[in-house]
Amino acid sequence: MNPSTSLEGRRVLVTGAAQGLGRTIAERIVDLGGTVVIADVQDDQGAHTVAAIGAAATYEHLDVSSEHDWAEVCDRVTDSLGGLDGLVNNAALLDMGPLERIDPDRARWLLDVNLLGPLLGIRAVAPLLRASGGGSVVNVSSIGGLEGMNSTATYNATKWGLRGLSRAAALELGLDGTRVNTVCPGMGNPDMPTPFLGRFDLDRYLTTAPRLPFHQDGQPRNVDVHDVAEMVVWLLSDAARGCTGADFAVDAGWTAGTYAEGLPGF
Ligand SMILES: NC(=O)c1ccc[n+]([C@@H]2O[C@H](COP(=O)([O-])OP(=O)(O)OC[C@H]3O[C@@H](n4cnc5c(N)ncnc54)[C@H](O)[C@@H]3O)[C@@H](O)[C@H]2O)c1
Repeated sequence: MNPSTSLEGRRVLVTGAAQGLGRTIAERIVDLGGTVVIADVQDDQGAHTVAAIGAAATYEHLDVSSEHDWAEVCDRVTDSLGGLDGLVNNAALLDMGPLERIDPDRARWLLDVNLLGPLLGIRAVAPLLRASGGGSVVNVSSIGGLEGMNSTATYNATKWGLRGLSRAAALELGLDGTRVNTVCPGMGNPDMPTPFLGRFDLDRYLTTAPRLPFHQDGQPRNVDVHDVAEMVVWLLSDAARGCTGADFAVDAGWTAGTYAEGLPGF
C-alpha cells in the first residue's frame, strides 16, 4: 500500500510559527488532519495566528534557546495532547554585515537561536517521539546552509551546522524509529516577504545575483512559502518513511549550479 501524506492524528510542534514560513507550515499541518503547537516568542502574534487557524492549533511561549522553556513546553504538551509525533525547528534569526565587523554578542545570539535552539529542541522532544513509536523532525536550514554568501557569515555557519546536527540526530534517533531531515529553502524571494528579510533589498539581490535557472511560463521561477511548507509536511508524513538524515533543497534550482550562456549547443 502506498504510504500516506495525511497527518491525521499527528501532533506537531512548530517553532517560530507565529508568522512567516512557520505559520504556513502550521496551517498545512492542520489542513492535512494534524494538530499543531505554535511555539514562538511573539505571544500576541502567536495568539492571533492560533485564532485564525482554529481549534486544531494551540500556542506556547517558547524561546528556543532556553532549556527551561523547552522542558516546560514539553511537560504542558504532554498534559494537553498526550505527547508529540513531530517537531519542526523553524525559528531563526538573520543578521547581515561584513565578516570583519561581526559583533560577537550578536553572533552568539544567532548561534543560540539558530543552532543551539534546534539541538535543545531535539533533545527535549526525542523522548516524546520515542514514546509515540517514533516521529519525524524537520530542521529548516536554508540555501545559506548549502553555500556561502557575503554578509551572512554567522547565518551561514548556523545553517550549515544545522545540517550536521540533523545527520547526527538521524543516526541516533533512528534506532527508535524517528526520522530527522533538513529542508533548505531558497532565499531572496519577493513572494516570501517576511520580517525576517526586513533589512534585505530583495530586488537588488535578485538583480545582482541573477540565478533563477528554472523557468515556468517563460518567467524565472523562485519559491514561495507554500512550496517550502509542502516539503516540510511531506517529510512529516509516512510518505517520507524512506527518508532520514537527508537535505532537501526547495530553491527552484538556485543551488544546482551556474547556467552559463554561450556554451556549445546553448
Ligand atoms: N525568508 C526566507 O527567504 C528564508 C530563506 C531560507 C530559509 N529561511 C528559513 O526559514 C525559517 C523561517 O523564516 P521566516 O522567513 O518565516 O522568518 P520570520 O522572521 O518571518 O519568522 C521567524 C519566527 O521565529 C520567531 N523567533 C525568533 N526568535 C525566536 C526564539 N528565540 N524562539 C522562538 N521563536 C523565535 C519569530 O518571532 C518569528 O515568528 C528560518 O529558519 C529561516 O532561516 C527563510
